[in-house]
Order: sequence, then structure tokens, then C-alpha cells
Amino acid sequence: MSKNIIIGNWKMNVGSVEDAKKIAKLSRALAAKMRTTEVVICPPFSLIAPAAPAKKAKNFHMGAQSASVHEGGSHTGDVGVNTLKSLGVSYVLAGHSEQRVAGDTNATVSQRAQRILAAGLTAVICVGEKARQEGGEHLDELRTQIRETLASIPQEQAKNIIVAYEPVWAIGAKEAMQPDQIYEMSLFVKKVFSDVFGPEAGLKVRVLYGGTANATNAAEIMRVGKVNGLLVGRESVNAGGLTDMLKAVDTVR
Ligand code: PGA
Repeated sequence: MSKNIIIGNWKMNVGSVEDAKKIAKLSRALAAKMRTTEVVICPPFSLIAPAAPAKKAKNFHMGAQSASVHEGGSHTGDVGVNTLKSLGVSYVLAGHSEQRVAGDTNATVSQRAQRILAAGLTAVICVGEKARQEGGEHLDELRTQIRETLASIPQEQAKNIIVAYEPVWAIGAKEAMQPDQIYEMSLFVKKVFSDVFGPEAGLKVRVLYGGTANATNAAEIMRVGKVNGLLVGRESVNAGGLTDMLKAVDTVR
């Protein structure tokens, strides 16, 4: 059985080399004690190097918050997958809702994911509806998002994709989605994934939940929501919350 995975998305919530080193060190120390869980941290690009361990650390991996759609060349301000790889990154987010607000479309998310996968890295593709609608229209929105984002990704890469389901309304919110709803939505995500890549890939794909996951709700979300882990924003850079959350989720098989 593969381990559960907790991905810390630091966003711009860590702003200095000193703080990055502190949080990375704590994340590594906690990861080393985990039995059923692996930890990934996604610092801002410029803090990846100072946050990265000198040598391989147990249950711990480096991630990045996005990657360029380009392989290289004259693209001011962009960071490509090969640069990330050379920094020791093995997981890269694609299509986080904050990136979608900043201009990412399903097509560009698909391009990013293809670059990430072609470089031999794991693509963490973020999807989620903006709002829940009584008529269930949000399911159509989510289905279209997943289908279009996975379009053009070769079938053999399905195993290197993690889908992070993050209802946009629950990100940076007061409360997370209810665990039983998360369970329904994770099944839906798997179903759409299997429509694209086939039933076997749909059974195997790892689905994470994101949106106001914290020390109090994390274990229940994973147990009842039956997700393979969490994509965590604020709590991933809060020392006390991170410590309690990782301890809590490591009880989940
Ligand atoms: P949050 O962010 O945990 O602060 O709600 C989650 C995310 O954006 O991935």
C-alpha cells in the first residue's frame, strides 16, 4: 500500500530564507517519525534551494508550486521543470486555483502537467468547483475541468499524476468541506479520471483533498473522506498546527 501524502503549499506565506529553513527543518523532523505518511513541501521558487535537505530525507520530498509551460528559452520570470528537477524537486503543483485566477486555463494546466510528467516528476493537478450548486451544475464544471486538464496527457503517465481536489470556496476559509461530501467528491474525481484513462488507472489514482485542512479536521477528512492525503496551505507553515496535524494524520492507514 502506498503511503498517504501531505503536501504543504507554502504559497507566499514564507518570506525569508531564515523562515524557510526553520519550517523545512521542522517538516523533515516530523516526516522522519511518520509511519503511514509522507510529507512534501512546496516553497516559493526562490526558497526551494535553502529549504531542500543536503541529502535524502526519510518520508520527505521537495515540491514546487507551479512550472513553466516552456521547456527553456527567453521567458522572463518563468521557471522550468528541468531547473526544478536540478534543485531536487520531485512533485509539482499544476493549476492551483490561485494560479487559475492569475490566468491559468485548463489548456495551460494541461501543458504544465505534460512538462512536469515528461521530466519524470509527479504532477499534482489541482481541480475544484468555485461554488456548490443545488442542481449539481458544479459537477459538470468539475468534470470539464478534469477532462480538459488531463487531455493530451499520455495514458502511461496516469500513474504519475495525483489529483488534488480543492473546492475553491473552502480554500482559505473558516471551515473545510464536510468529510462525507469529500468522500462523494473523491469518488466523482476517480470516476472522471477513469473515463479518461480507464478503470484500472481510476482505481489507482491518488486523490488529495485541500481547503482549510488543519490539525483538528485532518484525520477525519482522510478517514471518512477516504482520500490519500491533503494539500495544505496555512497550516503547513504554522509550526504548532503542522506538528499536531502530522501527528494526527499518521494514525490513518
Ligand atoms: P488552505 O489552502 O489550507 O490555507 O485553505 C489550501 C490550498 O490552497 O492548497
